[in-house]
Amino acid sequence: MPKLQTPCDMIFFGALGDLTQRKLLPALYQLERAELLGDGTRIICLARNTDHASAMIQTRENLLKYIHQSELTEPVLERLTHRIQFMSLTFDQPAAYQGLADLLDSKPEHERVFYYATPASIYGQISANLHDAGCLNDACRVVLEKPIGNSLASSHQVNADVGRYFGESQIYRIDHYLGKETVQNLIALRFANNLFGTQWNQNHISHVEITVAEKVGIEGRWGYFDQAGQMRDMVQNHLLQLLCLVAMDPPADLSADSIRDEKVKVLKALKPITPELMGSHVVRGQYTSGSIDGKAVPGYLDEPDANTASSTETFVAIRAEVGNWRWAGVPFYLRTGKRLPEKLSQITIHFRQQPHYIFDPEQRQLANNKLIIKLQPDEGIALQILTKDQGLDKGMQLRKAPLQLSFSQAFGIERVPDAYERLLLEVMQGNQYLFVRRDEIEHAWKWCDQLLNQWQEMNEAPLPYDAGTWGPEAIDRLLATDGRVWHEHQ
Ligand code: BG6
Repeated sequence: MPKLQTPCDMIFFGALGDLTQRKLLPALYQLERAELLGDGTRIICLARNTDHASAMIQTRENLLKYIHQSELTEPVLERLTHRIQFMSLTFDQPAAYQGLADLLDSKPEHERVFYYATPASIYGQISANLHDAGCLNDACRVVLEKPIGNSLASSHQVNADVGRYFGESQIYRIDHYLGKETVQNLIALRFANNLFGTQWNQNHISHVEITVAEKVGIEGRWGYFDQAGQMRDMVQNHLLQLLCLVAMDPPADLSADSIRDEKVKVLKALKPITPELMGSHVVRGQYTSGSIDGKAVPGYLDEPDANTASSTETFVAIRAEVGNWRWAGVPFYLRTGKRLPEKLSQITIHFRQQPHYIFDPEQRQLANNKLIIKLQPDEGIALQILTKDQGLDKGMQLRKAPLQLSFSQAFGIERVPDAYERLLLEVMQGNQYLFVRRDEIEHAWKWCDQLLNQWQEMNEAPLPYDAGTWGPEAIDRLLATDGRVWHEHQ
């Protein structure tokens, strides 16, 4: 990929926060290392009560901490840090924005990208202050971090507040899962391969599993997480985006709006989970103490800063359905949780059995093909097929075997770029197709809200599960009522 031609001013709000320090600046380091940043590009870091010298000490330490040792070189670090300029700015003080305006005006030819790595509740205020200080122009862009609100109403408000100052074509809403290589690969897999394109519907697919499992717990973010819970933190965005990419119809082309139009149709077609379905279609859990990788870990309520009466969920499983012609009657089993046994993001497409079965009846349960798309770790694709077992003594015995593609092995990839590297590059280039449009966010909230509201009305404690297990036992029932088991139990 060629270096960006136009220099850019990347302006980070919340520049000493966890996201900027742990993800965004290390991602810019990688872009610097790959020589993709345009000449003259500036990284303007804004934070409260700070001065350049002390903020740079902290930033440098964090770059050394978060970039893999083997990828760190002093010349690249030097080139990157040379671009960074810290400014002290208190977000709610309009006068403080004048210094930023002067700095931006010193290079009027630079493109401007504002990145709000702050709580969404202040996006509107920052936008207004930037506008009043004259920092905005027609070509500038703004990146909004998730979560955008915590309900349909609040996300509507945030979108409206930002929308007063930026047009939709200037707004880049991040869902970092869309920046993951394998997630983008779903588009290639589905729409470049006729083999799958023709089979991708309810005639051939019986059900789909989408699993996003994490080993980590709350990682010092109890205050944020306890307000959000796994439904708002993961399902409303990452899992529904994955579901959209699996379920959407082929877009007319790869333009941002063509892709996003198709995703919105899926979100609109998601069947509501009505009160009658809550018991059979949804499982809500919270981890208790347990052990992960042989190490004891505390329960959610024993984490530092915990409110011991919290009933926030750290695990959710849902049997969702997309009510349209392509997917009628095909359940999408979604499952995500913290403190599960492994870090794993995976989509499993289960194909229907052959209409007429001629082999040993005892082996019938083997007889379905599965496409397993592993998003992380060890990105790759496996197609589970059935073959004849080898050997003179085996007769016509069947055996499952995977046709396997590991991206790192097949393409000799040393490192898979982090999602934020791709996303920052796309923003600087002005490509919106990996970002989420306003109506997508709002339809996703609408579907989640009805579920969240019912939880609130039911006022039941989440089901406990031991850290290091795959969630509450009830998740097996979610599939068992359909006569199925999760992929890993087959
Ligand atoms: C974030 C959530 O959006 O995604 C975190 O807020 C979660 O709670 C993280 O840990 C998972 O991302 P990844 O890329 O590590 O799978």
